[in-house]
Amino acid sequence: MDTSHYMPNKTEAWQNLERHAQKLSIDVCHQFKVDSERSQMFSVETNELFLDYSKNLIDRAIWADLIALAKNSPLQEMKRSMFSGKKINTSENRAVLHTLLRKDNGSEVGKLDRLLKKVKDQKQQIKKVSDRIRSGSWLGVGGKPITDVVNIGIGGSDLGPRLACHALIEFSHPTINIHFIGNVDGAELLSTLSKLDPQRTLIIIASKTFKTLETLMNGNTAMKWLQTHLNIRDPQRTDHLIAVTANPKNALKYGVSESNILQFSDWVGGRYSLWSSIGISIAISAGYDRFHEMLVGAHEMDEHFLNAPIEKNMPVALALLSVWYSSFLRLETHAIIPYCERLQLLPSYLQQLAMESNGKSVTRQGQPLDYPTSPIIWGQTGTKGQHAFFQLLHQGTHTVPIDFIAACNDMLSTPQHHEALISNMLAQGSALMKGQSADPTEMHLHYRGNNPSSTLLIDKLSAKNFGALIALYEHKVFVEGCIWNINSFDQWGVELGKTMANGMVSSAGSLTNLDASTLSLFAHQQAKLA
Ligand code: F6P
Repeated sequence: MDTSHYMPNKTEAWQNLERHAQKLSIDVCHQFKVDSERSQMFSVETNELFLDYSKNLIDRAIWADLIALAKNSPLQEMKRSMFSGKKINTSENRAVLHTLLRKDNGSEVGKLDRLLKKVKDQKQQIKKVSDRIRSGSWLGVGGKPITDVVNIGIGGSDLGPRLACHALIEFSHPTINIHFIGNVDGAELLSTLSKLDPQRTLIIIASKTFKTLETLMNGNTAMKWLQTHLNIRDPQRTDHLIAVTANPKNALKYGVSESNILQFSDWVGGRYSLWSSIGISIAISAGYDRFHEMLVGAHEMDEHFLNAPIEKNMPVALALLSVWYSSFLRLETHAIIPYCERLQLLPSYLQQLAMESNGKSVTRQGQPLDYPTSPIIWGQTGTKGQHAFFQLLHQGTHTVPIDFIAACNDMLSTPQHHEALISNMLAQGSALMKGQSADPTEMHLHYRGNNPSSTLLIDKLSAKNFGALIALYEHKVFVEGCIWNINSFDQWGVELGKTMANGMVSSAGSLTNLDASTLSLFAHQQAKLA
């Protein structure tokens, strides 16, 4: 297929879907009555994940056109290109190979085989370093073992490991605490450091580029804190600092000892980096074996994505629903509601994954798009969300597709609590779909119903299943990008603000480029400085 001329909205499937959308009158409850196999038809299972998407605003005819849309897109070719290391991130001239990080062995030849060997070496280093820290043989300058690890990083260098350490808290080391500092808000950093013993603290500066302003500023402050409290000149040369980066030159310039630099390759995108050395904090917290299980689970999802037919492919199903809602029904947001407190950071994580990847308005060839792309991703855990924003979901003026996510078993909970949690989730999905009519004199009691949702049930929140869950959403985002014909792997949209902020921080000279409103805000803030 010649993908250079692909325009999804010129395909027959797209046009059929536009017609379906214009005359849409799907009553989901009615669809269950007329299609006795609806729930089997619209569900898919792989390994320990089961996805039911039968409560969505689709019928068999719409689904057939969505499947045709996927089949007529460059998806299959792009998938092959991604897994084989072609430079599909064209604007940065880079391959996209986070899937290689999840492989132990392979039949790769040539370049991929060499890359896999490098990945294996990097994994060995993650294992060696994390084992030493966990066993107490990685010592600070006073000869004491590490009790606190502070991961300083932002975006993908923060969200992935932070989410994973929370999700896998069941396996966390009994005497080593992991802290995450993302924001350049000094109050957060200082209050974290003030509770720690510098002799027993390890700082990890996690930055793919080793250039990010927030991370370097936080790193510098942490180094000064070590310098003062340990009374040493160059804390960055000691075992109190590890750098994780794809730019070892910058880490060396920063003064980090070569043996304390954990590398990964530039073909690992920031938001896909928890599988790389960026995952060192996961391995320190949960142990290397759990980290490895996480990779195995993600690899199993890769295999499912590669080999399952499009009609029974979990990431494809989630992506097609998203494309249907965004581009055809013009629903602008999508909620992620895990019924599991350990997944409380999942909505933020998926926000970066989806919105940084597919928040684009030009095609891969640089042409403007005339259809909406990524929805706004938001959410929080149930049942907490039920007492905050579910009112709007049931009776507001917006229709919000939802992904409910839960573990069937939770050994950390009690059977009673877990039953209450899961019952709440299932009840919400059903209530949102069924609604409830009310007497016209009591319309405040009316629930319109027909609100779409999908439900993902995971056998249990093991490290392996957690890996599969994240890989599922990565591939979902990839499929969306293939259908929308956008480059999901760059993020040029964050550059302008970064450059302007850097200018404001470093020199008053560049203020001349600012608009009158921003200049007046800047002047106001400066005048109020205590
Ligand atoms: O926000 C842009 C971005 O490049 C993200 O993609 C990335 O995860 C984050 O900044 C941090 O970048 P780095 O790891 O290079 O510090």
